[in-house]
Amino acid sequence: MEILHTAAALQAYTENCRRAGLRLGLVPTMGALHEGHLQLVRAAAQACDVVIVSIFVNPTQFNNADDFRLYPRLPQADADLLAPAGCTVLFLPSVEEMYPHAAVLRFDFGALERVMEGAHRPGHFNGVATVVSKLFHLSRPHQAYFGQKDWQQVAIVRQMVMDLGFDLELVSFPTVREADGLAMSSRNRRLPAEARAAAPRLYAALQLAAEQLTRGASAAAAQAAAAAYIGQEPAFSLEYLEIADAHTLQPIHVWVPGQAVVVCLAAQVGGVRLIDNIVLLPEQQAVGAA
Ligand code: PAJ
Repeated sequence: MEILHTAAALQAYTENCRRAGLRLGLVPTMGALHEGHLQLVRAAAQACDVVIVSIFVNPTQFNNADDFRLYPRLPQADADLLAPAGCTVLFLPSVEEMYPHAAVLRFDFGALERVMEGAHRPGHFNGVATVVSKLFHLSRPHQAYFGQKDWQQVAIVRQMVMDLGFDLELVSFPTVREADGLAMSSRNRRLPAEARAAAPRLYAALQLAAEQLTRGASAAAAQAAAAAYIGQEPAFSLEYLEIADAHTLQPIHVWVPGQAVVVCLAAQVGGVRLIDNIVLLPEQQAVGAA
């Protein structure tokens, strides 16, 4: 596995690969890797000749200085996990390398970012789109891999690829969870023991909402039931729990037949902000519901 630190080195490397007719896969990450990341790397290794994994804690997507400062950084442990998973090139740039000057361009994704993470973390998706488009330009991948744990991020990146005509295929994979249901996240490392013990209840709340919806309850009823369940746990402070169309991300009132729905939440747990979601496909809807 090669480790590259500069944009120029990555560009030269990927240009050579392209010239040699190799198929390139890119897995953008912020490091502190876990199984959720590694499944993306393994899938990329199955489909591509060259797998580029970037690790960059991107300052422009953080709207909270402490969250950026405390974000776990473990480059050596990450490198040890990546080589056996099939990573060919690890890209580890500095902030100066990714942002030789502060970007002036601002992304606006309209309705897609006026909800959920976009609404609660001003500027977040501008930072994500900026860094992801830079990584796309530097690595020119045939495929780029993203996790559905960040459902809204996938929707935003898909829109960006479409609007800007990036010539690549976006591939996404379902959320990987701990045995107790907690969605894997680099931020889980920061959870104090009590908060870690309570955290799986976030997924239980999503399951509760999903169960209500499949039984034909209105979105408001399902949302209220899940919020009440979370409210019983004093360790949680719920930021939002939204039930939305899985593609447009706009809130729904009832689950219309044929519609894919996503239930998304964000909550503070023991000083750490966690997000999770559950997707409901049209075929999961009970016959006669809605
Ligand atoms: P990061 O949180 O490190 O996640 C990197 C990729 O791994 C994302 O596509 C994310 O959705 C996926 N991922 C994280 N946890 C997962 C889980 N439990 N199951 C499945 N996939 C999971 O997302 C980012 O970094 C950044 O915003 C980035 C895209 C790198 C831009 O800076």
